[in-house]
This record gives sequence, C-alpha cells and structure tokens, in this order.
Amino acid sequence: EWTTASIVDEQVTKIRDQIGDGRAICGLSGGVDSAVAAALVQRAIGDRLTCVFVDHGLLRAGERAQVERDFVAATGVNLVTIDARERFLDALAGVTDPEEKRKIIGREFIRVFEQAERDLKAQGDYRFLVQGTLYPDVVESGGGAGTSNIKSHHNVGGLPDDLQFELVEPLRLLFKDEVRRVGLELGLPETIVHRQPFPGPGLGIRIIGEVTHDRLETLRAADAIAREELTAAGLDRDIWQCPVVLLADVRSVGVQGDGRTYGHPIVLRPVSSEDAMTADWTRLPFDVLERISTRITNEVAEVNRVVLDVTSKPPGTIEWE
Ligand code: XMP
Repeated sequence: EWTTASIVDEQVTKIRDQIGDGRAICGLSGGVDSAVAAALVQRAIGDRLTCVFVDHGLLRAGERAQVERDFVAATGVNLVTIDARERFLDALAGVTDPEEKRKIIGREFIRVFEQAERDLKAQGDYRFLVQGTLYPDVVESGGGAGTSNIKSHHNVGGLPDDLQFELVEPLRLLFKDEVRRVGLELGLPETIVHRQPFPGPGLGIRIIGEVTHDRLETLRAADAIAREELTAAGLDRDIWQCPVVLLADVRSVGVQGDGRTYGHPIVLRPVSSEDAMTADWTRLPFDVLERISTRITNEVAEVNRVVLDVTSKPPGTIEWE
C-alpha cells in the first residue's frame, strides 16, 4: 500500500543511492515544494545538504525573513542567502514575453546556484542540485509523453542547456496534496506545509509587461494588502492561492478627491483547486473584495482600479503568464 510513510522511506533510499557520499545544494523558494524536497534530502544525507535561498527581488513582502526564520527553526538546515536582486532585474530589463521571462529566470537561478557551489568548494564538492519539481510542473512544461508546453515552469523547461548539476527531484511523481502529507510526515510545521503555492518566478510573471523596480514595489504593496485581508477574513485554507497581478502596460482614468488619475489596474485571481491542473475562480465574499479594493486604491498610489478574474482553468491558467 502507498502510505505517506512508505513514500518517505522509498524516496530516502533513492536519494541515498543517487547521492552516495556526495553533497547537494537545494534551492529554497519559501514554498511547500522546495521545503519538503529539502527536508527529504536532509533526512537522507544530513548536513551534506546546504540550502540556498535566492533573493531575486521578485519576492513578496516578508518572504525572505520568513524562510530565514521558519524553515531554519523547523529543520536546523544549513542555509545560505544570496542577494541576487540586481542580477535578475538586469537580466529581465526590456523583456515582456512570458516564456522569455520564465527562461531568463530559470537560467539566472542556475547561475546563482553555480556561484553558491563555487563559494562552498572549501567544504567539498556540491555536484547535486535538489529541486521541488512536482508532477504537474513536468506535465505543463511539456516534459511527459502526450503533453504540450503550456508554460515553462522555471525548474523544468526554464533550465539552461549547459546545466552542470545532476538533478535530484524526489517529488517528481507527486501532486501537491501528497507533498503536503509528506511534509507533515517529516515533521514540518503547518505554517510551511499549508502555505499557498507561490511560483518560483515570483512577481516577475505577475507584472504584465516589463519588470522594473518601481513596478515590483507597486505590486508588492497591493499583494501585501490582499493577503492581509484574506488572512484576516479567515479564508487562507479555503482558497488554493490568490495571485495579484499588475497590468503595467494598461492605464485607465479615475478620480480621486477632485483630481483626475491615470493609473494601472490590479487583478485579483482567487482560485480553488485540488492539484492546480484545473481550477475554479473562488466566490469570495463581497465585503472582503470591497475591503481589498478600497485599501489598494487608497494605499497604492499608482493603482486606481481593482478587477476580479472570473475565469476557470481551463480556459485560463492560474497565473497570467
Ligand atoms: P498555472 O499558471 O500553470 O499554474 O495554471 C499552476 C500552478 O503552478 C504554479 N506555477 C509555478 N510554480 N514555478 C513554480 O514553482 C513556475 O514556473 C510556475 N508557474 C506556475 C502556479 O502558481 C500554480 O499554483
């Protein structure tokens, strides 16, 4: 029988077989998948695992501090944080095509991991790279038989051709609900295991248009308000996730006080789902939507309109890019 405990045992054995007495780097994103992958590999090879958290500047408010605090407290893992904000912004300058953004972000992640590997050389040879790739990531990136490329998930279709690492992907056959059970089995806290999904490319694929420092600040502010209100309303466990999207190349006319505004729209994309392969838009209570809308338009200067995405998947995807 396929119990969670047997999945853990089987994967730990496979990881030990693959890595032997080698060393591995694991990219942590703050999300469930990479946290569970790291915890599994830690169980298999102990402190020959070093986790690397890349601050690519496409994170939401508070995310970096949360990883540094919660994940390390829960696992005692070795963690290196790398500030790569400038590097990612430079690489994304002038880019608007979604697939191009995804490939650039995937490539830059690897370049940062390579840098980490060089920095860690004194400790030993870090030849393996652990990723929290799930089954749906593989399918939607066009990685399996009979699949098509819907979008290149940063850790699958976004990998550069000259990858030097050997990949370790213990979750590659699992769905999110199974990953959460594995996380609980490994003793990770609920605050990590029940986090809503957040994509590796982060806010970079939630700015429709070029990614710039100022646009990131705008989106981060709007996103923090939406998350705060959803949490205050006790809705976190009812929704799968709620991307907040900035339509950076769209402007509309508004009025504030007695003045005209000409600002950008923010899209709220609350979805309900079992595994992210399909999804429905979540019927959020109107009073919650009203509070989010009022606060965003009052508190975020560049935004003068908030709209709700009422598209299921299919035909929409969850993220806009
Ligand atoms: P879509 O937009 O394809 O998203 O309906 C399905 C789920 O996957 C997440 N997502 C990603 N996660 N790297 C990730 O780690 C990615 O490149 C990526 N793209 C989408 C998305 O947030 C949703 O939960």
